[in-house]
Amino acid sequence: MSTTDNLKAAFAGESQANRRYLAFAKKADEEGLPQVARLFRAAAAAETVHALSHLRVLAEVKSTAENLQVAVNGENYEATIMYPDFIKEAETAGERKAINTFSNALAAEKVHETLYREALETVQKPEEEQYDYYVCPVCGYTHKRSAPDRCPICGTPGSRFEKIS
Ligand code: FE2
Ligand code: FE2
Ligand code: FE2
Repeated sequence: MSTTDNLKAAFAGESQANRRYLAFAKKADEEGLPQVARLFRAAAAAETVHALSHLRVLAEVKSTAENLQVAVNGENYEATIMYPDFIKEAETAGERKAINTFSNALAAEKVHETLYREALETVQKPEEEQYDYYVCPVCGYTHKRSAPDRCPICGTPGSRFEKIS
């Protein structure tokens, strides 16, 4: 493998470790082990440092207009190729939970692609409109300006959405 391939693999691994440790921290808190939870959160923060350092060396962060195009392409790939294929395989195997999580993600990625396309159209304008986004904690559905009454993908009440300012 080339060094570029290794950097990409390391970026993927460190990124995954970050999310895995945050999930482990939540579990440790639920088990009444706050000090272990702290360790997981500290290591998770460190893995983010590593991930971002590797990404910097890969020079994959470009101008925001270019980054938005990369994001559009990634979301489109997930929504039109990756998740449809994964869902088909899960259906063949009768893996209900996998079908559910893939379907939720697919629906949310479609919305992300639309939001990124919109942002790409307005990014060059001098006076960008400012508003918050709201994210469903169950399926990742993303809504601009306000939380919906209920998530259109999974039905979670809007009161549980996370506000992103
Ligand atoms: Fe690390
Ligand atoms: Fe997405
Ligand atoms: Fe949802």
